[in-house]
Amino acid sequence: MLENKKILIGITGSIAAYKIISLTRLLVREGAEVRIILSKAATDFVPSLVLATLSKNPVLQDLTIQDEWANHVELGRWADVFLIAPLTCNTLAKMACGICDNLLLASYFSATCPVVLAPAMDEDMWHHPATKNNIKKVQEFGNTIINVNSGELASGLFGEGRMAEPEEILTFLQVKLGSSQELSGKNVLVTAGPTYEPIDPVRFIGNHSSGKMGFAIAEQCQLMGANVTLITGPTSEVLKHTNINRIDVVTANEMFQQSLNLVEDSDIIIMSAAVADYSPVVVAKEKVKKSQKEWSLELTKTKDILASIGAIKKHRQFLVGFALETENEQENAFQKLVNKNADCIILNSLKDNNSGFGYDTNKITILEKSGSTIEFSLKSKKEVAKDIVSYIISKVNV
Ligand code: CTP
Repeated sequence: MLENKKILIGITGSIAAYKIISLTRLLVREGAEVRIILSKAATDFVPSLVLATLSKNPVLQDLTIQDEWANHVELGRWADVFLIAPLTCNTLAKMACGICDNLLLASYFSATCPVVLAPAMDEDMWHHPATKNNIKKVQEFGNTIINVNSGELASGLFGEGRMAEPEEILTFLQVKLGSSQELSGKNVLVTAGPTYEPIDPVRFIGNHSSGKMGFAIAEQCQLMGANVTLITGPTSEVLKHTNINRIDVVTANEMFQQSLNLVEDSDIIIMSAAVADYSPVVVAKEKVKKSQKEWSLELTKTKDILASIGAIKKHRQFLVGFALETENEQENAFQKLVNKNADCIILNSLKDNNSGFGYDTNKITILEKSGSTIEFSLKSKKEVAKDIVSYIISKVNV
């Protein structure tokens, strides 16, 4: 898929630089031509001999090579994409304010190809307002960010800031350089995660939804070129692509309001959230003490977001619902499709091992309006998201 694609990689001084060794290998295996520029600090983390051997090209570092000037303009014109990974806080700041004091930055400022950035830093640096501003600025300049992951950091702390894994960067580049931007120009609205219905200031009614499936769908739609808005309930999931518009909500009512605000402008609406069906009639102002032996909570039905959108949806809009069933699965799911006026329902069964809430895998069946069904095998949620989005594309791009 990357046959004859020209990829320029700029590596800056972060411990994550070691991951570029395997990324280079993966890219060359995929048929790409790879050239690499190292910043001076990066040379402390990766040996240029390894990178030169794997990329089959000399690795560049200085603005001059012996008495010759390294042509940074040529590099940015040669490349189909310029990937800067890992991108340190320091180089990011220089890119944001126009400082050009090495070959990597000179190549960046003169590049005419798309630029993709994969930051790597400690969590506090990543969350610092200056970093946030710089990220915003370089995005406004037209660069694309591959979002950081959460996990163990070089400092020994756990949190956000890890550079995306080589395989993730490879997929990102494959999509970016591939022709499949089949959702280009489409506005997609996705709901994900659980909702929490407060009982008192410390308690709520919730469910086990992790948000993983909805996040994977939102990311897949974005990779296919769509403008994506993700409305999510409380979750620890982090988006890989900062170009997705993420709206965080807590309650079913908040999710309802936000969805209704956005529905008119949406071409495709995918409702994967596990919305609470009931919420407490009264939310206690103070923590409820355990003075009574028994406690009954009066609950009232929440608004059904999918059904509300189904009732007003236009012919040009494609509405996808989800169903989680434990018995009479297909009959119940089909009834939901009809009652809520969806165009299709993605049925998850809790009966399938390793499928549903919290798992990284899922097994789905797509039910169509016509009554026909398409069954899929157990796959990672990322692969399931690809199946769902491919199905939607086949329906909206006819
Ligand atoms: N849904 C919604 N708003 C609600 C409840 C559900 O938009 N208040 C949506 C979900 O996002 C999903 C679909 O409706 O796309 C089906 O959700 P599910 O929980 O399986 O079904 P319910 O309609 O809640 O019915 P039941 O719990 O009785 O199975």
